[in-house]
Amino acid sequence: MNSDLRHRRKVARTALPTAVLLLLGGAVVVQSSAPAAAAETTLRAAAANAGLFFGVAASPNRLYPIVGQEFSQLTPENDMKPDRIATSSGGLQNTSGADTLVNHAQSNNMLVRGHTLVWHSQAGALQGASQATLNTFIGNAINRWGSRIAYWDVVNEALEDNNTGRRRNQWPHSMNRDANGDGDFFDAGDTDVIRDSFIRAKQVVQAGGLTTKLCINDYDVDGLTVQGGTPNRKANALYDIVRNYRQYIDCVGFQAHFNDNPNSIITDDLQANIQRFADLGVEVHITELDIDDDLSNNDIGAGQAENYRKVVRACLNVERCTGITVWGISDSESWRSSERGLLFTGGNGSYQKKAAYHAVLDELNKGRNPTPPSTTPPVTPSVPPTTPPVDPTTPPPPTTPPPPTTGCSATVSLNSWTGGFVATVRVTAGAAPISGWSVQLTLPSGASVTNAWNANRSGSSGTVQFSNVSYNGSVNAGQTTEFGFQGVGTATGLAAPVCTAA
Ligand code: G3I
Repeated sequence: MNSDLRHRRKVARTALPTAVLLLLGGAVVVQSSAPAAAAETTLRAAAANAGLFFGVAASPNRLYPIVGQEFSQLTPENDMKPDRIATSSGGLQNTSGADTLVNHAQSNNMLVRGHTLVWHSQAGALQGASQATLNTFIGNAINRWGSRIAYWDVVNEALEDNNTGRRRNQWPHSMNRDANGDGDFFDAGDTDVIRDSFIRAKQVVQAGGLTTKLCINDYDVDGLTVQGGTPNRKANALYDIVRNYRQYIDCVGFQAHFNDNPNSIITDDLQANIQRFADLGVEVHITELDIDDDLSNNDIGAGQAENYRKVVRACLNVERCTGITVWGISDSESWRSSERGLLFTGGNGSYQKKAAYHAVLDELNKGRNPTPPSTTPPVTPSVPPTTPPVDPTTPPPPTTPPPPTTGCSATVSLNSWTGGFVATVRVTAGAAPISGWSVQLTLPSGASVTNAWNANRSGSSGTVQFSNVSYNGSVNAGQTTEFGFQGVGTATGLAAPVCTAA
């Protein structure tokens, strides 16, 4: 990313467009269909009403009141990276900054995104480590914070720059081996650091009974195309990874560092790209959003505020886009301060809202306008992921409770924030295969479902009924399938689900 930015073409700055000036002057044309009185006045409240989190990257020395007031999710900007917390044998050290951030998030009812476990950059003492050592680190880091971390970026920035669609060739990806030389790492006999890291992370989550979701995160993967309409090969490569390893990957992060590099512009097909990942059944998040203010003044965008609006709208329009995180509070404190890419100016706890802030708040207050989820069943990988070689540091697979003798059973795991939650429901067939299922859930008073995936739904509050869709009704004996839903209100007190087999 930094090398991209070093080479990027800077353009002359001119005055902001009229629409933005009007916003700056306070004469905001409120396009919301909701009555003005209902509009929320903070990003986190507006996002919660729309059924998503709105987060920020943070550091321990910048935990000003605004963090908990405006944001419902926190990503440590640097304090959970391997160069801070990993020892060369995969142990943990110097976790005080990360602990401070997790504690702050918890006391402000914010979700935490752990960032990041396997990354070629900022690897510190792990640089050059084996997969076994990476696995040790993955286990130690996930277990230290457990379910207090809602989402972990397990693998970060695995794909090469310049839209080649290839994996990086630096460590740890230099450990990859394409046994049959067909150009991918998905076949039996191939070695794939991404696959093996996710398998390890999934084992740790399951063994600990954690609700933590496991994500892959990258930049320049935002649109279906890049500038000029060229296919976004990097996004396509990420899609293939998620499709092949769907059983281990729960969520995808689009970093969304938008600048005027041809591969990182905001395209009109951003929403369609989010949707195709969502159709695989994973949550999609915008994880590191910042938008170069220069994009206001060239042929790519029509103003920073409008560009922010576009990105927020693209996420809101896809049911399974469940969160947006900006990469810092204020321009002056950003990693790319000269490009003034964030929502606030000022610094040291004294911040002023920019036009971009008002645009985001306004767009969030309009809520979702979801397109129906695709009816296409998830694509089955042509070659199923293979079991990696046995790793001596890997604990035995978790034991699961025996399935019921007949019918089905269901369990729910929740990720909650103030005013909203995402539930993942796992349906397990009993001793015999089932050809359909329905799950009844009774929500606490005040809670309601805003959208669901991988299930049909009837009702939105009180007793809500979910049933299988065309592609997940048949479940073999003892096997599981998952569906999810998102809601507003609080799910604390959710009654145990009742599963009935067809
Ligand atoms: O804290 C030290 C300070 O003591 C020292 O004096 C100073 C001298 O260089 O460095 C300070 O550390 C810097 C750190 O940010 C905190 O400001 C590091 O040098 C600097 O490399 C580091 O940059 C971070 C960058 O990742 C490193 O790759 C940025 O803050 C952080 O925003 C950025 O975040 C990445 C995401 O993790 C992944 N996606 C891209 C994103 C932007 O590059």
